[in-house]
Amino acid sequence: MNDPDLAVGIDVGGSSIKCALVDLRSGRFASERFSVPTPAHGSVDALLDALATAAAHLPGGHAVGVAFPSVIRNGIVRTAANINKDWIGQPLAARAAAHLGRSVTAINDADAAGFAEQRYGAAHDATGTVLVLTLGTGIGSALFVDGRLVPNTELGHLQVRGMEAEQRASGRAKVERALDWDAWAAELNLVLAEMHALLWPDLIVLCGGITEEPERFLDKLRCEAPLRIGALRADAGIVGAALATTLAAPASR
Ligand code: BGC
Repeated sequence: MNDPDLAVGIDVGGSSIKCALVDLRSGRFASERFSVPTPAHGSVDALLDALATAAAHLPGGHAVGVAFPSVIRNGIVRTAANINKDWIGQPLAARAAAHLGRSVTAINDADAAGFAEQRYGAAHDATGTVLVLTLGTGIGSALFVDGRLVPNTELGHLQVRGMEAEQRASGRAKVERALDWDAWAAELNLVLAEMHALLWPDLIVLCGGITEEPERFLDKLRCEAPLRIGALRADAGIVGAALATTLAAPASR
């Protein structure tokens, strides 16, 4: 029988789909990390094929968690801000389970990263209201109140002075709007101020590829709440997806 403390995490990002076998006792990888490119403008079928290609690199038999950049309710995709709109209404968990031949749990990507940071990373000792933001293709949010997730918060779509937060300050916005680090930090400060004014969190954790270089921007950020950089960095989505397999009964069952 397979070790119940091991699960596969798959993180579907804007440019790549990353996966690994995760040891849930430590949050560390129990395999190498593999990645495949995310199919450009990917149809549902192309993306399911890519998930299967990614998962085929890992030992079979383990439960699979998929972190996906959309609202997920009961395994079903409900929004598609930065993915093919055909995904809306698709039963991701059930379709991925059929495609992979494994039990699959689906979770919002930022909620996954938040779970990982809360269990093993930068928020492991935090109480009260904790906001985890992922700054990638979009801005994802995970909100925890005394350790309990408020799922699918979607704060990246908050209007901040007439512009969506994720259009102001995501990793992609930095590139597409050609913002230097000062300009990007100023945009992120506006976003943080708005979120702080609405939620008054005790801690904000910043995750995502752009946070790999905190020395470039951390001292430019101003926020009334303490700020931390995610400890699991680019791996948080994978680890949180694997963790999600233990938190809910897979909707595919
Ligand atoms: C989506 C969220 C997602 C975030 C990060 C947003 O555009 O609406 O569901 O968590 O991007 O990928």
